[in-house]
Amino acid sequence: VFLGVDVGTSGTKTLAIREDGTIIASATAEYPLSNPKPGWSEQDPHDWWRATLKTIKQVVKDGKINKAEVAGIGLSGQMHGSVFLDANHEVIRPAILWNDQRTAAECAEIEKAAGGRKKLIDMVANPALTGFTAPKILWLRNHEPQHYDRCRQVLLPKDYVRFRLTGELATEVSDASGTLLFDVKNRTWSKKLLQKLDLDSALLPESFESEVVSGEITASVARQLGLSSGIPVVGGGGDQAAGAIGNGIVRKGVISATMGTSGVVFAHSDEVEVDPEGRVHTFCHAVSGKWHVMGVVLSAGGSLQWYRNQLCADEVKAAKKQKLDAYELITSQAAEAPAGSEGLYFLPYLTGERTPHADPYARAAWIGLSLRHGKPHLARSVMEGATYAMRDCLEIIKDMGVPIKEVRLSGGGARSEFWRQMQADVYGRKVVTINAEEGPAYGAALLAAAGTGEYKDIVEACKAAISVVGETAADKSNKKTYGRLYPQYGRLYQ
Ligand code: XUL
Repeated sequence: VFLGVDVGTSGTKTLAIREDGTIIASATAEYPLSNPKPGWSEQDPHDWWRATLKTIKQVVKDGKINKAEVAGIGLSGQMHGSVFLDANHEVIRPAILWNDQRTAAECAEIEKAAGGRKKLIDMVANPALTGFTAPKILWLRNHEPQHYDRCRQVLLPKDYVRFRLTGELATEVSDASGTLLFDVKNRTWSKKLLQKLDLDSALLPESFESEVVSGEITASVARQLGLSSGIPVVGGGGDQAAGAIGNGIVRKGVISATMGTSGVVFAHSDEVEVDPEGRVHTFCHAVSGKWHVMGVVLSAGGSLQWYRNQLCADEVKAAKKQKLDAYELITSQAAEAPAGSEGLYFLPYLTGERTPHADPYARAAWIGLSLRHGKPHLARSVMEGATYAMRDCLEIIKDMGVPIKEVRLSGGGARSEFWRQMQADVYGRKVVTINAEEGPAYGAALLAAAGTGEYKDIVEACKAAISVVGETAADKSNKKTYGRLYPQYGRLYQ
């Protein structure tokens, strides 16, 4: 039995799987997110630890797992967040998260110190974005010097949980890539950039490949969890890389398009591929010695969620009565409007945008409203806007010369037949679905299986556990319509 723990933003999810990848039990524990000022986003790392203990205990109980059976643990989690620890490894202040927008000035400071954007991309494969970790460290130095002076160690969210589980200060290459302090090409901390930013490399933990065992659970944690001591904990991965493992994205040409709150287009690459304009992220993959490129749409499913919450009180009520999911009613309404929503466009920038605009101040809009438009058009245009934004990511990846042979859908956007069809039509190609739906926690558990020797490597583990189960071909006429409208959508941001 292998455990995968995903330290997410809304909660921590733990999954127990058997050696062949079948799921035995799953448990989730939620915790709050705090926004002490506009644009700020923080969490208490102790909440992650409590949720980890709770969910591991829960899956062991629900899955009737014998303590001697647990052969490995894999970790995954929200990327980029910064946990600041003092000399006694105590948390100094709440962690600043991936979706925090306070660091625009520090991003400019980093670019300047690096000698410009191009030089920065040469060093760490990515431009400075407000969500990344390095600008958060500089923010602490600039705004809370009393905390910075006490700080001896900076950890990523899942690596704080690793520290509590194993006592080891460690990270792995996929999550380290999102700090902006990692030499992604050479898979090691960037001494050069650390020096230019006047940051002590001792602040950062040792970095492993994702499949490698980074430590073992301590005797006292084993006692608390009712497990045997010495269970190995592998590197694991940032939630995007681990989620991609959970979708079997471990070969050239296989891409995933995942629509949850955010939307992510993720491509495996055998070589390090960097967009000179920095529009997509280039990070190390959780497959040893490989990389990935990734485009991020900040509000994909999040746009439809906003639409449901703000404008669909009647649909939510009706769905409750009929014991349906409100999204089912909303998408069947959307299906009443024709492809292209009769000239209505929705720009999905409710929380700014990363790919392709890297603009925290971008905002959403409906454009083209007329008397003819009703709720079906509103709903459909929101879904179309989010899907066009996903296509923006695909187009950049294609432009970079990364081959795209198979697009695998996952997340909420893969569960609705209507949205699957819309994705095939907007992307202008066949899309497929797979047998696994559990995301990062599943990928983390597979990494544990591979890293402890159950499989030769993570590629073999994915081959054994993951297969394509469905496909949706593009509709000829809708493909043509979207092919015409997508460039219009692209011009509206300007
Ligand atoms: C990836 C990213 C998010 C977070 C939170 O770059 O910012 O996916 O990892 O889930």
